[in-house]
Amino acid sequence: MSDGRRLNDFIYASKKASDKILEEVNKGKRVFIISHMDADGISAAGIMGKALLRANANFCIRIERWMDERVLSDVRQLSGEDTLIIFTDMGSGYLDILCANIGDRQVVILDHHQPIGKDRENFLHVNPHLFGIDGSREISSSGIAYLVSKFLDKRNIDLAHLAVIGALGDLQDKYEGRRLGGLNDLIVKDAIESKLLEVETDLLFFGRETRPIHKALAYTTNPYIPEISGEEDKSLAFLRGLDIDLKRNDRWRALRDLSHDEKRRLFSALHDYLVSKGFRSEYITSSLIGAVYILVNEEPWTPLRDAREYALLLNATGRMNASGLGVAICMGDRSRAYEEALRILEEYRQMITKYLTWLNNNPDRIEEWENIYVLHGEKDIDERTISAVSTIISTSLPKPNKPLIAYSYIPKERVIKVSARAADSIARAGLNLGEIIRIAAEKCSGVGGGHDVAAGAQIPYDYKMQFLKIIDSLVKESISRLRGDESRG
Ligand code: C5P
Repeated sequence: MSDGRRLNDFIYASKKASDKILEEVNKGKRVFIISHMDADGISAAGIMGKALLRANANFCIRIERWMDERVLSDVRQLSGEDTLIIFTDMGSGYLDILCANIGDRQVVILDHHQPIGKDRENFLHVNPHLFGIDGSREISSSGIAYLVSKFLDKRNIDLAHLAVIGALGDLQDKYEGRRLGGLNDLIVKDAIESKLLEVETDLLFFGRETRPIHKALAYTTNPYIPEISGEEDKSLAFLRGLDIDLKRNDRWRALRDLSHDEKRRLFSALHDYLVSKGFRSEYITSSLIGAVYILVNEEPWTPLRDAREYALLLNATGRMNASGLGVAICMGDRSRAYEEALRILEEYRQMITKYLTWLNNNPDRIEEWENIYVLHGEKDIDERTISAVSTIISTSLPKPNKPLIAYSYIPKERVIKVSARAADSIARAGLNLGEIIRIAAEKCSGVGGGHDVAAGAQIPYDYKMQFLKIIDSLVKESISRLRGDESRG
């Protein structure tokens, strides 16, 4: 294709991966899936798990924080020649490490991270970036796993909704009206066709179907609503001033119960409140109103009903070292694993709220540098929450075009865990945060990478300041290069 996008080739690569999996399964080989611990990685593992179950395959799933020598050494030890290894949502960014540790073994990689390193013949590598397709916005790893699973068996169309959850977990709803677009759009259509998903446009409160309005408003963190997000009492007080009945017949109303006029009044009050706190009007509208993805087969009043909440639940299980529960839920468990995951979700939420409140009281921990913001979480922010905290804080910074580099210190390993975020507008203009983080990490004896809008790294603590300074100057270089291109263009 003239625009560099080779959609058919990408689809063909998915088919080849599916053929390989079928061939090995039919030979009686065991399948070992290693996936990433965030919502997209867990959804991808759930999709592969369900598809392999349907194919009567013998398989096991392992979820990891990131790929490194330790993980690969475990993989080597746990899999012999009779095993097909599949990496989902990890691998593309670490091709050389993979090669050094896996040797000539055949591996399948289903990943949407920016590929780094050299591809090898024994890698069956399905990644949208290799075909000119934007893996940050158009399809996530669970989407790739879904395409592969559909080639395995047409009936796997009933797994499409899991890929929608994964894509939302990876914040791919960057299209107008907070929609999923690109190849994700086709997956959304499959999920609708299989009667598991409906899409509506509404206020994007977290829990619009499932919670009393004041709770839903307090749980909403994109945008982060100062003095309301995370604070149920203040949220209730705000709503009481709006002349909206919060209860009917002694029962709390949810957002879905409000009339059009009540919603309009609520939006307008929130809009004015956020403007008074310095937010831009168009940003408020684009983040508060948009597409909601409703999983119609899930019980109303549960966090599984709204695909964004489902993704948060999966993320919570992954970050809190209970990813097995997330995989079990994707594969259909609604009993013990689900109950336990609900408890973990609550704990995770409370931790995030605690750190956001702490940051509110310690604003000096967020520094504005020349070209970036730095959030010094140090030992005070638990590394399990730094990714979520970074995402939330990045939506409420005064200069949205400056990337945020947040980190927590993990004393046991003497490393910092870094979570970096850049606004979609600046990423679309050409700033590639994943690449910047990778280069800076390499120079500081660490590892890093990711996407243009969200990237991460693990860096030895002693290199912390050097790492941040390199990022600051790489961002500066990149922005001035882009400005130069713009003025020449
Ligand atoms: O952990 P966090 O959510 O901040 O990671 C953001 C993105 O960066 C994720 O897609 C993650 O897979 C990626 N990442 C990476 N290499 C690392 C750390 C994170 O590719 N070493």
